[in-house]
Amino acid sequence: MRYEAESGPTFTLDGEELPFHPGDTLLQAATRAGRYIPHLCWHPDFAAHGSCRICTVKVGGRAGAACTVRAAAGLEVESHTEELNEQRKTLLQMLFVEGNHFCPSCEKSGNCRLQATAYDVGMEGPHFEEFYPDRPVDASHPDILLDFNRCILCELCVRASRDVDGKDVFAIGGHGIGTHLLVNSESGKLADTAMTLSDRAASVCPVGVILPKRRGFAVPIGQRVYDLKPVSEEGGEGAP
Ligand code: SF4
Ligand code: FES
Repeated sequence: MRYEAESGPTFTLDGEELPFHPGDTLLQAATRAGRYIPHLCWHPDFAAHGSCRICTVKVGGRAGAACTVRAAAGLEVESHTEELNEQRKTLLQMLFVEGNHFCPSCEKSGNCRLQATAYDVGMEGPHFEEFYPDRPVDASHPDILLDFNRCILCELCVRASRDVDGKDVFAIGGHGIGTHLLVNSESGKLADTAMTLSDRAASVCPVGVILPKRRGFAVPIGQRVYDLKPVSEEGGEGAP
């Protein structure tokens, strides 16, 4: 058969034949093969969430989320096309204007997947009108700062706290444009939860919401993960 290589079944990603394991999603298989498909709410350590749509690819001409569509022998998948990258740029621009993202003053700049992905698809400005939502920071915890201004609602912290830490510190509340991240405590403050700096949830945020206190700018700007190589060259790592 055309796609049954000796080593097992394969699909094509932008014309390149890639192997996959049974049960793999397209994004898992691509990442394992060292190929990059843009993504924000997916992380190799967690079950797919399928909410950001940045990973949208075309499978046999039909759009699907690469983090949820299963690989199958003979699938023809397109990802790095002008049309899909333009759609990704629009989604990213919407994410930027929905929050307050001031990259030059953000501790996460250079380590931020949102910023790195935007650079990678050639986003040069927000395009849409800024919402400037009012989102206070939570500095109540002795070791962890929460800056909700930068939240992209990927729910990685929700999954990490619930599934790895067993603490359920975070949740998503509200509807539509009012959807926001919540801290699960009576006061709504992080200080009144059991969260600690060693929790998985404390290090999973792809943007600059959940930050350790007293460690600001420990790595200088210019020497950070995505300062050294673009996100599209992270190969099989899948996350910083
Ligand atoms: Fe995602 Fe970070 Fe917001 Fe949690 S705080 S939902 S990890 S962007
Ligand atoms: Fe697939 Fe977010 S990475 S929808």
